[in-house]
Amino acid sequence: MEKMWSGRFQQSASSLLDDFNASILFDRRLYREDIEGSTAHVRMLNAQGIVTDDECEAIIKGLQQVLKEIEDGTFVWHIGDEDLHMAIEKRLTAIVGDVGGKLHTARSRNDQVAVDFRRYVIRKNLEIARLIREVMEVIVTIASQHTETLIPGMTHLQHAQPINFAFHLLAYASMFERDIERFRQSARRNNISPLGCAALAGTPHNIDRNMTARSFGFDGVSTNCLDTVSDRDFALEILFNIATMMMHISRLSEELVMWSSYEFGFVELSDAYATGSSIMPQKKNPDVPELLRGKTGRVNGNLVALLTVMKGLPLAYNKDTQEDKEGVFDSIDTAEISLQILREALATMQINTGAMEQACKIGHLSATDLADYLAAHCNIPFRTAHFITGKVVARAEVLGIDVSDLSFEELHRIDERIDESVMPKLQLMNSMNARTSQGGTATVRTLEQLIYFEHYLKELEL
Ligand code: ARG
Repeated sequence: MEKMWSGRFQQSASSLLDDFNASILFDRRLYREDIEGSTAHVRMLNAQGIVTDDECEAIIKGLQQVLKEIEDGTFVWHIGDEDLHMAIEKRLTAIVGDVGGKLHTARSRNDQVAVDFRRYVIRKNLEIARLIREVMEVIVTIASQHTETLIPGMTHLQHAQPINFAFHLLAYASMFERDIERFRQSARRNNISPLGCAALAGTPHNIDRNMTARSFGFDGVSTNCLDTVSDRDFALEILFNIATMMMHISRLSEELVMWSSYEFGFVELSDAYATGSSIMPQKKNPDVPELLRGKTGRVNGNLVALLTVMKGLPLAYNKDTQEDKEGVFDSIDTAEISLQILREALATMQINTGAMEQACKIGHLSATDLADYLAAHCNIPFRTAHFITGKVVARAEVLGIDVSDLSFEELHRIDERIDESVMPKLQLMNSMNARTSQGGTATVRTLEQLIYFEHYLKELEL
């Protein structure tokens, strides 16, 4: 197959080279951005008097036909065309004749691919942010029903202090809020046009970069062409944004896996989002959260892979950069399906509040409240109060009961400065509601957080 760049070559390319060199099998998903970019470019060439009205019209009509062929599946992708840019230009020229060759005036594939990929990534930043919003909406809705459902708050995976389930869920709402903001900021930061940088140094043609930038909705034009044609920070950013978001999803997934076990029994995933075992008929496995946790590995890998590709590249464009796309596409696909299935799994899971409250009876969750009481009410230095409480815990262990179930007599025997006013402090609900400091778990504070997130979601413009 004759290459578009074959002018200076005497031998034709080997088919092994075609297989190795081509990006067409994966970059064709950028076809929409590519055709829109070419359309804006030719309009600018026309406005600048570089192509005539007739030529411009013919090229735009041809591009529209190419778009139609791609979308209805009749476009034939040849690996020998190397990449989508050349495949589209070649088909265009077949449709409109030699005038198609004018499209590439004042342009290189280097700025062309930078435009296509950047615009695709910007669009995906916003689409992913919208999917996160849907997950957050489910989380906030579930949270709104559980501001008084007790669950053991843990550190080191050991029971620590009672919190409410809404407070626990809203910790994830906080993570997802940061994620949404990160995706939005990347979309905004990178919204500058590479078009017109040509191969690396700009062009002698009298182009108007601002015009093409505006027609795409870019906020401006890049400053330095040499940087722009080999800048892939926007791709690294979305990879990092996705990796961080998937890390959050993975943490939540880990909890869902634990909570679905017999040992916890806090939640039961819907049958539609759980799977069975091929040998053990009784099994119901949490494959969805497990896979979400597992897929975090591949998105981390994609980030590290592109950082490694970019490291050490001399200016400006190098073919190494073609390796930027598959990992980004894979991370985007992974993020999109992960968010969709997470939303469904959360929305359909059953919450077993009884098991959560039962679990709060294990592990002396109100021990800190006793120490706080001794410090505040009996004016005992906190260190000493901590030690006395340790004795109380040891006594409760001997009796085989939780600190919250100890009688006043038992407490008083250990330290006579303890009076009856301690008793309500040890009740788990009171313990949770005592933590009224800003951002704390007390139901009043959790309700503030709930209102904050409801407001955030309502006002969010994406
Ligand atoms: N397929 C290439 C890529 O994805 C397009 C740019 C090629 N430019 C070049 N001078 N070889 O990066």
